[in-house]
Amino acid sequence: MLPLGSCGVGVSDRSDLQDFSVCSSDSFWAAVARQRLSWIRPFHTVQDCDLSQGRIRWFEGGKLNVSVNCLDRHVHTCPERVAVIWERDEPKSEVKLSYRQLLEMTCRLGNLLRRRGVKKGDCVTIYMPPCPLAVASMLACARIGAAHNVVFAGFSADALAERIRDAQSSTVITVNQGVRGGKVIELKKTVDAAIQSCPTVQQVFVAMRTENPVVMTAKDVAMEEEMAKEDTVCEPAGMDSEDTLFLLYTSGSTGKPKGLVHTQAGYLLYAALTHRYVFSYHDGDVFSCVADIGWITGHSYSVYGPLANGGTTVLFESTPIYPDPGRYWEMVQRLKINQFYGAPTAIRLLLKYGDKWVHKYDRSTLKTLGSVGEPINTEAWEWYHRVVGQGRCPVVDTWWQTETGGICIAPRPADPDAEIVPGMAMRPFFGIKPVLMDTEGKVVTSNDTSGALCIAQPWPGMARTIHNDPQRFTETYCQPYPGYFFTGDGAYRSKEGYYQITGRLDDVINVSGHRIGTAEIEDVLNQCSAVAESAVIGFSHSIKGQGIYAFVVLKKSIDVQEADVTRQINDMASKKIAKYACPDYIQFAQRLPKTRSGKIMRRVLRKVVDSELEGLGDLSTLDDPEVVQEIIQGHHDLL
Ligand code: WTA
Repeated sequence: MLPLGSCGVGVSDRSDLQDFSVCSSDSFWAAVARQRLSWIRPFHTVQDCDLSQGRIRWFEGGKLNVSVNCLDRHVHTCPERVAVIWERDEPKSEVKLSYRQLLEMTCRLGNLLRRRGVKKGDCVTIYMPPCPLAVASMLACARIGAAHNVVFAGFSADALAERIRDAQSSTVITVNQGVRGGKVIELKKTVDAAIQSCPTVQQVFVAMRTENPVVMTAKDVAMEEEMAKEDTVCEPAGMDSEDTLFLLYTSGSTGKPKGLVHTQAGYLLYAALTHRYVFSYHDGDVFSCVADIGWITGHSYSVYGPLANGGTTVLFESTPIYPDPGRYWEMVQRLKINQFYGAPTAIRLLLKYGDKWVHKYDRSTLKTLGSVGEPINTEAWEWYHRVVGQGRCPVVDTWWQTETGGICIAPRPADPDAEIVPGMAMRPFFGIKPVLMDTEGKVVTSNDTSGALCIAQPWPGMARTIHNDPQRFTETYCQPYPGYFFTGDGAYRSKEGYYQITGRLDDVINVSGHRIGTAEIEDVLNQCSAVAESAVIGFSHSIKGQGIYAFVVLKKSIDVQEADVTRQINDMASKKIAKYACPDYIQFAQRLPKTRSGKIMRRVLRKVVDSELEGLGDLSTLDDPEVVQEIIQGHHDLL
């Protein structure tokens, strides 16, 4: 029984509630927002949205503080309940923090940030691996009204610098060194390199993850030492519902990564509600989302959703195979994890190591298994369900995006007993109305068809805009199908009306669950001195989901060895973006297939890489059809 009946919605049956949440969206969200969030001042308007204009506003007039919702209210009722379990890289060395401890840590840091001049409306960049101080940093920003910009700690100095500059941060929070898979990562040094090109940065807070000292400059602040001097009480800022809570950069099909803007009340409410219902989270459960906090999955399901619900959340710092491929399941046994939420790429990797690593450990505490970030193939789904979950735990394949703030389509948003079809996200969450569009931009009404996936009405968790580029937001998401939110994904709707995501419709690819634009990689390749031009294609990869295949044309005037260029390309991709941006294959070509107007025909390249030579399609617009044969030959030679 959904505890929503008591909130005045007056509907008890779950399928009725789903209909009600869509058809009477304002009443639904108003009731849930009143019931589930603590407000400093109530809102007067549920929503003021016009998707065709890109205007999205929820709960206006309301004031609240997100950190109070995530911490103080639970400290009042159960101060000693465990809020976070930090599963450190070193196995069996977990650290637990109660709600009281996490609140104290957050308050000390909030006071420190305030004392060092961080103000409401500023944006603080956080470059840290998952750890309690990273969560406290996010919540401390929320406490004092600053926005945060968490940058995945695997990003290079250049990528970090680009994000700091766009966010105009004057404060950066980092750790001396990271530790992952037994290796030490020089995060502070990366920040030092990044801020060389960030004139706005005035101070860098450095926490100590390891005992190794690092060189401290005039800008650096020893974080723990300074926090120890602060008070454990910090006055929370009263924030408007639509003030920015955070920026999070993600890749699009063209141009630079975009800083999506999420705001306070709507985001928090949506993260909390999805966390509770999609995973059937109950009080006292131990929830483990193994995504990094640098991605939206970590934001919504390692931090905000579980903490808003007063839950216990696991922060995973390690890798699925360190020190061996039993890591996840040993952790499940030791921490008595009830919900485990991970990425298909890791499941596929572990599947290859065999069942023995799973069987070694007791997984009887597990109740729900979740999958996110990319399509989960049937083999991986079955293994996750049968071997990991012993056939008794539902596997929920959850579809959503950085833009949507939280899960939008998942098998069990409402009914914990509903049927689940392997490899399908299936059903929309409360308040979500998915539609499919045909190639003419019309809504597809029949079932057993595919189309471009749009969402027909706004929901509180959706991103509001792109930082510094509101026009790009409107153009990308609101204008392709006026009045609808366009996701960029394609989907199939089955005879029964269930949704299955078929993949991106644009040039965004998903490598080991990391989202990246092929244009971003091309941009890097083209910066290599010997490269004349390049084209990057995603291809189906048995572990990573998608791999990166680069076609590279070298400058004729330069005499270089291909092996040297390969090395240079890999160095550049790691340096400019991150290690996962390095191509799996580089095919050197004399020229690329182009139209007469000079556009690279990616469709042809994609077909060659996918070995679909019969389906090359119409080649009549090619400038020189001969090129295709050269490309096919080169592809054969490479594999
Ligand atoms: C893809 C991650 C298939 C999709 C939460 C989307 C999925 C992009 C699924 C967003 C899923 C996410 N099945 N594809 N269950 N979940 N995707 O912003 O292409 O990092 O558009 O958010 O990942 O990636 P992002």
